Amino acid sequence: MSLRFELSANPQPRTEEEVAAVLADPGFGAKFTDHMAVATWTKSGGWADGAIKPYGPFQIDPAGAVLHYAQEIFEGLKAYRHADGSIHLFRPEANARRLQTSAARMMLPELPVEDFVDAVVELVRADQRWVPDSSGEKSLYLRPFMFADEVFLGVRAAERVTFAVIASPSGPYFSGGVKPVDIWVTDTYARAGVGGTGAAKCGGNYAASLIAQYEGYEHGCSQVLFIEAADKDRVEELGGMNVFLVKADGTLVTPALTGTILEGITRSSVLTVAAELGLKPEERRITPDELFGGIADGSTIEAFSCGTAAVVTPIGAFRSVNGEWRLPEANPHTLAIRDAILDIQYGRVPDTRGWLRRVV
Ligand SMILES: Cc1ncc(COP(=O)(O)O)c(C=O)c1O
Repeated sequence: MSLRFELSANPQPRTEEEVAAVLADPGFGAKFTDHMAVATWTKSGGWADGAIKPYGPFQIDPAGAVLHYAQEIFEGLKAYRHADGSIHLFRPEANARRLQTSAARMMLPELPVEDFVDAVVELVRADQRWVPDSSGEKSLYLRPFMFADEVFLGVRAAERVTFAVIASPSGPYFSGGVKPVDIWVTDTYARAGVGGTGAAKCGGNYAASLIAQYEGYEHGCSQVLFIEAADKDRVEELGGMNVFLVKADGTLVTPALTGTILEGITRSSVLTVAAELGLKPEERRITPDELFGGIADGSTIEAFSCGTAAVVTPIGAFRSVNGEWRLPEANPHTLAIRDAILDIQYGRVPDTRGWLRRVV
């Protein structure tokens, strides 16, 4: 039986003026809406107690399993308002399936796709006044997550779990227009390894990536690209985005899904739209020699990262302990791919692939 996410309205919702002030300058990830979706799972009873209720803190016992053993997974997707006022999600079923993949790896329970989508849809409906208008690149960022909250210090799969969705208005990633970013490349630190949790969206991967991220900041870079740290023979992904190279021969290359990187929904969308823009997509191994050597010899003409938060971001240069490899300044293919994805998300072109799910 499906969960039902019925609304218990927040008795003290923010005023229209307060909402307008947040939407005027949403930033990212710091302001939250009036409600959240929740459901709980127990080993004996399965999923139950679905609800949309007032946003507020959880009560978690100091012995709650997630605080000790990090049994936790999450997702990230956005709701977009179109020019006609309607509100749409972008490929939410793909996020639902990826949460299932993450759950299987982390011994958490599987949440049915329809329950995931219902939770997100009902939350967006309840908080629709928090979805920014279609001017600029604003949206409502949605963060579904699931964690072990059984009160037990034994190391085993928790028998009580909470699923929730919270929502946060989000501004354009680049406030002054799209700017290329410089990327720090590390083969010292790994965020994930063979047999590990790289293909799951679990909090521990992000905790593991922070040290490299901070090393990148020290070198003037805003993001880190991980080279597989054991054999040092393949490019993987950034701390929170996938990576693509545009080659002079018209191919568009991204690392194959080997189990150590996250299968990005933007990555999959880019592979589809790029083919329609005349590029030849290839998912394969990219060696560090190809990454750096291709820029040096001119066979790589553009590079970009991609993910839900920043859509498609041109890369200006890769830097490592061995030097800097700067790409040409023009990014015509990257920007065409970026526009093609945004045009679908904001309803500026017909959704020919059924990627949008109308909510309001
Ligand atoms: C490690 C990592 N890789 C790639 C991505 C891009 O995934 P998506 O396009 O689904 O946002 C993300 C963001 O979710 C991420 O955290």
